[in-house]
Formats: sequence, C-alpha cells, structure tokens
Amino acid sequence: MRKKIVVLTGAGISAESGLKTFRDAGGLWEGYSVYDVATPEAWKRDPELVQQFYNERRKAVLEASPNAAHQALVKLEAKFDVSVITQNIDDLHERAGSSDVVHLHGIITKSQSDKKPELTYDIEGWELRMGELCELGSQLRPHVVWFGEAVPMIEIAAQICCKAEILIVIGTSLQVYPAAGLVDLAPGNALKFLVDVNSRPARQDIEEIIECASTGVPKLVQRLLDSEA
Ligand code: APR
Repeated sequence: MRKKIVVLTGAGISAESGLKTFRDAGGLWEGYSVYDVATPEAWKRDPELVQQFYNERRKAVLEASPNAAHQALVKLEAKFDVSVITQNIDDLHERAGSSDVVHLHGIITKSQSDKKPELTYDIEGWELRMGELCELGSQLRPHVVWFGEAVPMIEIAAQICCKAEILIVIGTSLQVYPAAGLVDLAPGNALKFLVDVNSRPARQDIEEIIECASTGVPKLVQRLLDSEA
C-alpha cells in the first residue's frame, strides 16, 4: 500500500515562476486593497476593476511555467499516493503533471456564473470581459473564492489531510483560514515538513526547511523517494 502524501501549497511555490505572492515585499496586496478587488462587495461596486485585476493575473499565469518545485512533486507519484491541496489560483501544478490537485480558492483559468456559481466555464485566453454571459444570461466572473465567501472544497481538503502519513507545506504564510487550519488536521504521527524561504516560529512537530521552493522541494522529494524502498 503506497504511503499517503498531502502537499499544501501557497503563493511561495509559484514565486520562482514569476508570479507575485500576496504578503511579501512587492506582493499583490501592496499594490491593491483586498477590498477593492477580492470581495463580493468589490464586485458589486466596480466589476470592471475586479475583472482587470484578474485579467492581469491571468495573463501572468499564462506566461508563467511550472518550476522545479512543481515538477519535483510530480516525481513523488512514482512511489507515493500524492494529493496536492493548493491555495493558489494558478494552474502550474496541473501543467507540471500533478494528477490530484484540489484548488481551495478556485482557479483563474475558469469563470463562473454570477447567478449560479456551480456553472463554470473555461476562459479562452487571458481576458474575461463584462458582457460575457453564462447560459442563464448573467455576467461571468472569475472562478475564484473571494474574502468573505465560502470555501466549497474545504471539506474534501480536510478529509484528505486527515489521512496524511506525510504532510508537506510549501510557500504559505498560513495566515488565511480555513486553509491554514488544514495543517493541524494531519494525524499526530504524520511526518510534517515546511519549505519556506523565510523562517517561521518553530513548531516541534514540523521539520522546517528554510530554502526557496525550487531547491528545497526537489531535495526533500529525493530524500522521501530514497527512503521509500
Ligand atoms: N520559495 C519558498 N517560499 C517562498 C518563496 C520562495 N521562492 N517566496 C515567498 N515564499 C513564502 C513567503 O515566505 C510566505 O511564507 O511564501 C509565503 C507567501 O505567503 P502569502 O503571500 O501570504 O501567500 P499565501 O500564504 O499563499 O496566501 C494565502 O491569502 O490573499 C489570500 O487567497 C489568497 O491564497 C491566498 C491566501
């Protein structure tokens, strides 16, 4: 029976692919207020600004490529049962080849109906425009979870984390819930690792690897593959 590895990723794993994080110096929340571009109220108040914010990010995602960290996680699938739970709305895990990816905060390459969120559509190219409507005739918005909205995938993610034999947390400040709470759902006897370029308050139960993702993750992956007969 293959051991279960659960990987929880945040913006830091995509930083070396050229995609901005949120809370680092020069991060996205330095240039924009969350309340202007990432809440349902912002969408009601100025939908054009919200579309523009996500169109710019979508363009950057389409121009980006998976880095060595995304690619190393795929290699784990040779010997382990791997589930990736990501807070990121880019599709770099999928483009690297990960076969099981749960997007907690949605995915930028899809739109959803403003009236019926279950209606989702692939976005061709980088731009989603006002006037593009769903089959019910209502405006299409980014298929992204905004602050204050429910996180539909959290139950599935929690069930996955409860089964982790190994938990790898990569590139997240763990400041946003409910995503951050997933770390504590992994069983007490699970092996836990945290790969982050910045050091964090030490936790006895988590081995910290203070390195950038593109070097820290491949090294950890090789260690785990070597340890698995
Ligand atoms: N390699 C590894 N870690 C990195 C790198 C790198 N090259 N660059 C930055 N980091 C780390 C930072 O030290 C930080 O801990 O990645 C983390 C980025 O934290 P945030 O910017 O807060 O991103 P994230 O944790 O993903 O934010 C969670 O907040 O705004 C919401 O919905 C948004 O999904 C996002 C959520």
